[in-house]
Amino acid sequence: MGVGDSNIAGNVHGGTIMHLCDEVAGIAAVRHSGCRAVTAAMDRMTFRNPVYIGQLVTVKATVNAAWRTSMEVGVRVESENVRTGEVVHTSTAYLTMVALDDEGNPTEVPAARPETPDEQRRAREAQLRRDNRLAERERIAAQREQG
Ligand SMILES: CC(C)(COP(=O)(O)OP(=O)(O)OC[C@H]1O[C@@H](n2cnc3c(N)ncnc32)[C@H](O)[C@@H]1OP(=O)(O)O)[C@@H](O)C(=O)NCCC(=O)NCCS
Repeated sequence: MGVGDSNIAGNVHGGTIMHLCDEVAGIAAVRHSGCRAVTAAMDRMTFRNPVYIGQLVTVKATVNAAWRTSMEVGVRVESENVRTGEVVHTSTAYLTMVALDDEGNPTEVPAARPETPDEQRRAREAQLRRDNRLAERERIAAQREQG
């Protein structure tokens, strides 16, 4: 992370980290679907520890679950002090990416096939986040109808 990425105290901007997460999540979604993909939502972004100027940042993404045209991509961000080798888990993000066909319409994606216990846990948790999001949307719509 360079000087352009941080505030005057040397902390890297949250927006810079979010940008990296969005880019890497997009790559994971394209790899999984074989289509171009857009970000429908950044469902959650947590900043567990600060990232400082001069640190090496690694961003890893995985498709946790795939539904009809959308996928949840989980992103893990780590910072590394390259002099000491200390690695810290700094952020976690969950994004919903939607695959698009050549006309720009949402298009079906292959199912995710979780195999390892970690992959199966991520898939279960992704389904829970989606169910919660849809339930929340329905509750809000119902409340608005009631005025
Ligand atoms: C994302 C987008 C393609 C969805 O279009 P839409 O007309 O709502 O399409 P649909 O209703 O068919 O929904 C398609 C999928 O998107 C999901 N989706 C739509 N809005 C969503 C939201 N706000 N949050 C999470 N998922 C959403 C739906 O659940 C559906 O998933 P599923 O097929 O797996 O069940 C459209 O809203 C869009 O183009 N948004 C702008 C994307 C963008 O510019 N991103 C930033 C730059 S990449």
